This record gives sequence, structure tokens and C-alpha cells, in this order.
Amino acid sequence: MKPIKVGLLGLGTVGTGVVRIVENHQEDLKKQVGSEIEIVKIVVSDVNKQRSIAVAPDKLTEDAWEVIRNPEIDVIIEVIGGTTTTKEYIVEALNLGKHVVTANKDLMALYGGELLEIAQRNSSDIYYEASVAGGIPIIRTLVDGFSSDRITKIMGIVNGTTNYILTKMTQEGASYADVLKEAQELGYAEADPTSDVEGLDAARKMAILARLGFHTNVDLNDVSVKGISSVTKEDIQYAKRLGYQLKLLGIAECDENQVSVSVQPTMVSNSHPIASVNGVFNAVLVTGEAVGETMFYGAGAGELPTATSIVADLVAVSKNMKLGISGKRVNAMYKPTVLKTDEQ
Ligand code: HSE
Repeated sequence: MKPIKVGLLGLGTVGTGVVRIVENHQEDLKKQVGSEIEIVKIVVSDVNKQRSIAVAPDKLTEDAWEVIRNPEIDVIIEVIGGTTTTKEYIVEALNLGKHVVTANKDLMALYGGELLEIAQRNSSDIYYEASVAGGIPIIRTLVDGFSSDRITKIMGIVNGTTNYILTKMTQEGASYADVLKEAQELGYAEADPTSDVEGLDAARKMAILARLGFHTNVDLNDVSVKGISSVTKEDIQYAKRLGYQLKLLGIAECDENQVSVSVQPTMVSNSHPIASVNGVFNAVLVTGEAVGETMFYGAGAGELPTATSIVADLVAVSKNMKLGISGKRVNAMYKPTVLKTDEQ
């Protein structure tokens, strides 16, 4: 059977995890897909840089366009981030009939609808499980697992960096600046951690979840956002004394056709399961009219958890290729929604 050939854009923390999982789980992946998965090219910013994994030098290139336009490549995995040139890469790949797997929440929150349409037009797939909550398979859960229900609320901790910072400040009295540095060193934070600490990363993820859960378009400008940069040790200790944990919570609600999406530091009672979600872990609570409350928990950032979601998407698009059903997923946005923000 012809191998599935992959071009990987980016070899940072997550890209390295993808290479490791594809190598280490090769036999299992092959059994599930029905052919080998081969990463044939990897785009990096400097081919001479020292790396934590061994990669054959002829696989590395600094030319992303060459990889996108390589007719041998079936699937592009994008883990470089950014929304301008990266969007051009992805649009070109989809227009060339390739399938795309991305971890890029900024791109999917801003241009998800447009990219899904381009994919469908070209009978291509674009999968983005790793864009929200790292290793928790929350996107396929919302799309497939809740398809029979009406979701009324999605709430949770969807940023690992800020949860790591708040946990260390709460449990060890550590300083905000020190823990942020640690989170950056561990590869949890974004290239510019402002988007983590100011709540923008969580807002983008909540917009993606609300869109999928409520079948409606959510404009990022309508999401009300407050981050944790002004939270002090005193705020945290005060909450702790009252029996609460301070958490950066994303809350999306759908009431009839009115949706509201917000992100803000919130006092969570110690008795609520969200209060014990610590460190880099994320948790998403989904409430459905029929099912009631459900909760999903797991690592929200980091090399292998995030790479797990990417490689799961790679398996899914590979299976779709084999079955000849690429680009057939219906992207049903059928609720004309009025967005309700805190200001209204
Ligand atoms: N910076 C993000 C976080 C990475 O901390 O959650 C995973 O999306």
C-alpha cells in the first residue's frame, strides 16, 4: 500500500512531539490506516540548529513553499503558528487538494469558517483537534459525541500556561514572573506569552468551542476577555482563605439563539471539580439539554499531549483518504445567533 506522505511545518516543541509519536507508534498507526505514514519533509527556520531529536538532514528545509507545492505530499501538518503567511500556506495546500492538520487556534478562531469552506470545495480535509485543550479530544467530542443533543453551556480551563501560573502561585506562593518564565521554558507558553496571560489564547479556544457546540459563527471581537496579568498573590491568598481557587475560566452559553462567550479570572469553590484542575491541566465541562453535565480533563499543553491530538488527526485524514471521503464533513452553521457580551 502506498505510504501517506506528510510535510511538517515546524519543529519546535509540538513538531518534535509529532516526529516522536509517528516514529514510536509507526506499527500501530500503520495497522489503523492501512499504510505507512512517512514524514518526508520538515520545514524549519534554521537547518543547522542543534535539536533534541535526530532528523535526517535531507528531510530538513527552510523553504515552506517547496513543501506545500511538492506533488508527492498528501498531508501538511502546520505547527509554526501565526495567521498571515501561515494562512497563505494552508490555503495553497488546500487548493492543491492536500489535507491539513493544524494546532493553530488563532488561525482557526479567525478564519476557521473560510478555511473549512476552501477545504470542502477542494475535497480536502482540515482537522484542528490540537488547537483547543492540547491532549483532550474535545473537538471530535463536540462534533460527534454531542451530535444528538443541544449544548447549552461550555465552560472550562483551556489555557495550560495560566493554570500552571495560578497553581504555583496558590500552592507555593511563587511569583507571577518566575512561574511565567518556567512555563515558557517548559514549552507551554505561546511565542508571545501576552496572549496566554491576557486571556486571548483562551478566548480564541472558547470561540472555536462555541462555534462547534452552538453551530454558529462567533466573532472574536464579541468575546469579552480579561486575563491574569493583574492578579496578585494577595488576591489568590484571599480566595484561598475563603475556600476558593482562582482560575482563568472560559464560559460560553447558548440560551435560545443568544450566545455569550467570555474569559475571566474566577473564584471557584473548592467543592467544584474545576477547583482541583491544577498545573498545565485543562478541563472542559459541556452541558447538554439531554445529557446534563459532562467533564473532560487532561494535559492542555506540552510536547506529547498536543502531538497526540495532531497525530490522531493525521490518522483521521489518512483514513478519510483511504475511504475516498475527504472533505465530505458537513460544516453546519445553522443558528443565526445574536452574541450577548457583558456590556449588553
Ligand atoms: N499556550 C497554550 C496554553 C498552548 O498554555 O494552553 C496550548 O494551546
